[in-house]
Formats: sequence, structure tokens, C-alpha cells
Amino acid sequence: MLMLRFIHIFTKLNNNRRRVTFSYTLSRVVSAALFITLADASSAAEPVPAKFVGVETCATAGCHGGADPKHFQFQFWKHSDPHSKAFSTLNTARSARMAEDLKLGDAAQNLQCTSCHAPFHALPANLMSTPLKAIESVSCESCHGAASNWQRSHTRPDYSHAQRVTAGMRDLHHLYIRANSCVACHQALSSDLLKAGHPELIFELDGQTQSQPRHWQEKHDYHRGQAWLTGQAVALRELTAQLQREKNPEPNVVLRWQALKWLVQQARVVSGTADHLVPLSDETGKANLEAVHRIADQLAKETSDAEWNETQTLQLLKRLSSIGNELHGKVAQPLAARRAERLVLALDRLSAALPADTAKKLDAPLKQLFASAQVLEDFKGDTFAKQLAEFASQL
Ligand code: HEC
Ligand code: HEC
Ligand code: HEC
Repeated sequence: MLMLRFIHIFTKLNNNRRRVTFSYTLSRVVSAALFITLADASSAAEPVPAKFVGVETCATAGCHGGADPKHFQFQFWKHSDPHSKAFSTLNTARSARMAEDLKLGDAAQNLQCTSCHAPFHALPANLMSTPLKAIESVSCESCHGAASNWQRSHTRPDYSHAQRVTAGMRDLHHLYIRANSCVACHQALSSDLLKAGHPELIFELDGQTQSQPRHWQEKHDYHRGQAWLTGQAVALRELTAQLQREKNPEPNVVLRWQALKWLVQQARVVSGTADHLVPLSDETGKANLEAVHRIADQLAKETSDAEWNETQTLQLLKRLSSIGNELHGKVAQPLAARRAERLVLALDRLSAALPADTAKKLDAPLKQLFASAQVLEDFKGDTFAKQLAEFASQL
């Protein structure tokens, strides 16, 4: 909860303060392509390309449209999950203002918005088994993958999870695959959209998994700290890809990339191979971006496959709360503020993954850190570093 409120506060603040204008570049619609790529990738073994069948197909009472806990997924998604309202968000006054700023006409009819809010808008006909409408918003297949190849077989009672995945259902149980599915819409947002006032996106696999109203039983054979690091590494890869695409990124996008890279680099000391320890520079030249992209992806894969338990999470927390000296002194204030923004969210998530009595002790010092990092312009690295030391002393 804490984290979510925090993100919204950041978003509001940043929107208010982001009114300085930078040179305009035409944004490219990449998310739609990514969405389709992901859908295809999960069914790579299939000879027939998978097609989307639409939520109505999943929603019959005997399947996922019932009222009991075994069949309630559709009703629950429709009434409780914000994803089912993502299309109608494009018809709000706020969206209309953004669309006007960007001169793109109706937000609900433009790929720059629908790529994430309504993936079925403008989906090529050969990827649909029946005509599908944008109003469906972000629905079952946006996460579980296009269903034409597995829709029938997945209902067989003798089918295992592995068999369903072989038939093309996306293996959301696998952290790396889950992170890739969510991050496609939850991290990289073109500089143009940011300038037009779209909320900044911060991807946190653990936090967003906790806050998505849950229509499934989580199988706890992964650790939340592990989900956190997998998610951060994937987020870094996506921000890196954004810098590889954009000729003129907003300076804030570069700062946020540098801050996340710093955080992931601090975190990777507890996981991954020697390759991860090569220092990564802050510059945005082609070779460096390629290196960061490759290493971030590799770290995400390795973390999701690693054996994790509380020891690693605690080790990570100790590590991340010992680096206060990197938030002031030689580091420029705007970068330090962005580092602190990402660091605080990390501490929040990782402490939530610890047993309740340890987590409770961290509550008060964590609140102070949140308060110090909230307004980027007012951020003071030396104060924050002192509070961080206090947080560390409770571990
Ligand atoms: C096809 C794009 C897409 C995918 C894939 C996607 N989301 Fe979302 N998500 C959205 C959009 C768009 C919204 C905003 C909905 C609105 O209010 O209009 C959203 C909102 C949310 C929210 C509520 C707002 C917030 O950030 O707290 C959560 C939580 C969330 N998504 C979690 C997830 C998780 C977890 C996954 C992966 C399992 C995921 N999403 C996959 C597009 C997507
Ligand atoms: C990269 C994917 C992506 C694209 C492209 C995108 N959005 Fe979003 N949008 C999201 C996500 C994810 C959220 C939820 C953010 C959160 O709450 O943390 C969101 C939130 C919003 C919100 C705030 C909703 C609320 O209830 O607070 C509005 C308004 C919005 N988007 C409009 C637009 C418009 C208009 C466009 C096109 C100009 C657009 N979006 C393009 C992913 C996207
Ligand atoms: C934003 C992403 C997202 C959307 C949209 C979504 N799901 Fe899921 N779903 C998940 C995740 C994540 C899991 C957990 C997967 C796991 O651990 O194996 C899941 C699990 C499930 C499960 C397994 C339940 C269990 O306890 O094992 C079913 C069934 C399911 N979803 C059906 C649906 C249906 C039907 C819809 C559409 C009405 C839908 N989902 C929409 C992300 C999503």
C-alpha cells in the first residue's frame, strides 16, 4: 500500500513540475509490437500462429464466468481489476487533454494510447479468430497469451501446467516470463507522452503483483525478493531499450535510467555471474546501452531461476542500506534524488518480504526515507544518508 501511494504522489508531483518543455521527437509505437511479439513468443513451438479469441470465449459460466472461486476469474476481472477499465480511461478529460497536446485526435482511437490501454484496437485481422473490440481493454489474453492453440486443450482435467504451456499458454508462473508480460506496458513510456502529462511509469514486479486484485492462488515457490530483483532487471532492460530507440529522450528518462542502473548494479552483487560485475558507465553511447541491455536481461533470467530464500533478501537489504554515501557529495542532486526514489521503493518491497516482526521494526525509519525522497527538487542527500543508516541499524 505504502508503495502505491508513493508512486501516485510521485506521479502527481512530477506532472506538476514537468512543464519545462524539451525538443519534440515523434514517438514510435513500440508497445503494440512488443505485445504481439510476446504473444507470439509464448507459442513459438506451435506450427500455427496463435490467434486471440477474446474474453467472451473465456467468460461462459462453466469456464471462467461463474460465481464460485474456481470459475470466478471473469467476473472478478470485470468488476475489480483496473485492467478491465483501461480502455475507458482513454475517454476521460485527462486523456483528451493529453491527446490534444500530442495532436493525435481521439485517444481511444490512437495506437499511441491503445497499444497499452486497449491492445485489440488495430490488431491485425490474421491474429484474431473472431473480430475483437478495443473496449475489451487489457483482458485475459493480454497476460495469458493468445489462446486459439490452447483454448480447447487447457480444459482437460488430465492436463498439467507444463502441458498447457507446451500448447502455447504463457507460463506466468515463471518469474522472468511474468515480468516480461507486465513490463511491456508498465515501464517504458515515450518521452512525448511523458511531456504531455502521462503518469510516469515505475515497474515493480513484486509491488504490482501484490496490488493487482488477485484472481489466482499464488504458488509460493518463489521468494518475493527474487520477484523484486527479476522485475528491476527487466525494467532496466526496457528503459535501456527506450534509450536505444529514442533519438532525443527527455532528460528525466536518462536520469531515471541512470538511477535504476545504479540500483540494479548495487543489487546484482548478491546474484548472477562475474559478467554482472563489469562496471557500467552512465553514458548513453551505443556500446554501453548494448552492454546494459544484455547484462540486465541475463541478470533477470538468472535471478528468476536462482534458489532464493530470506537470506538473499536480507543480504540485499543490508547492501542497499549501506550505500548512503552514493547519494550526496560527488553525485549531482537530480541524479541523487532519482537514485533515492528508486532505492526507497526497493527497501519498501524487500522489507515487506521479511518476517512480520523484522518488517515492523523497519516501518518508522522507512517512513522517514519516503518523506525525504518524495519531492525530487527538495531532496537532500546527506539527510537521506543519515536516515538510511538508521534504517540499516534496525536490520
Ligand atoms: C497490455 C498492457 C498491460 C499488461 C500486459 C499489464 N498491464 Fe497492468 N495496467 C495496464 C494499464 C493500461 C493500466 C492502467 C489502467 C487504467 O486505470 O486505465 C494498468 C494498471 C495496473 C495496475 C493498477 C495501477 C498500478 O500500477 O498500481 C496494476 C497493479 C497492474 N496494472 C499490474 C499488472 C501486472 C502485475 C501485470 C502482469 C501480470 C500487468 N499489470 C500487465 C496495462 C497492462
Ligand atoms: C506503455 C504503455 C502505455 C501507453 C502507451 C499509454 N499508457 Fe496510459 N497508463 C499506462 C499504465 C500502466 C497506467 C497505470 C499507471 C499507474 O497507475 O501506475 C496508465 C495510466 C493512465 C492514466 C491515469 C489513469 C488513472 O486512473 O490514474 C491516464 C489518464 C492514461 N494512462 C491515459 C493515456 C493516454 C491518453 C495515452 C496515449 C496518449 C496513454 N495513456 C498511453 C500505460 C500506458
Ligand atoms: C494483468 C494480467 C492478467 C490478466 C488481465 C488476467 N490474468 Fe489470469 N493470471 C495472471 C497471473 C499473473 C496469474 C498467476 C499465474 C501463476 O502463478 O501461475 C494468473 C492466473 C490465472 C488462473 C490460474 C488460477 C489458479 O489459481 O491457478 C486462471 C484460471 C486465470 N488467471 C484466468 C484468467 C482469466 C479468465 C482472465 C480474464 C477474465 C485473466 N486470467 C486475466 C495475470 C492475468
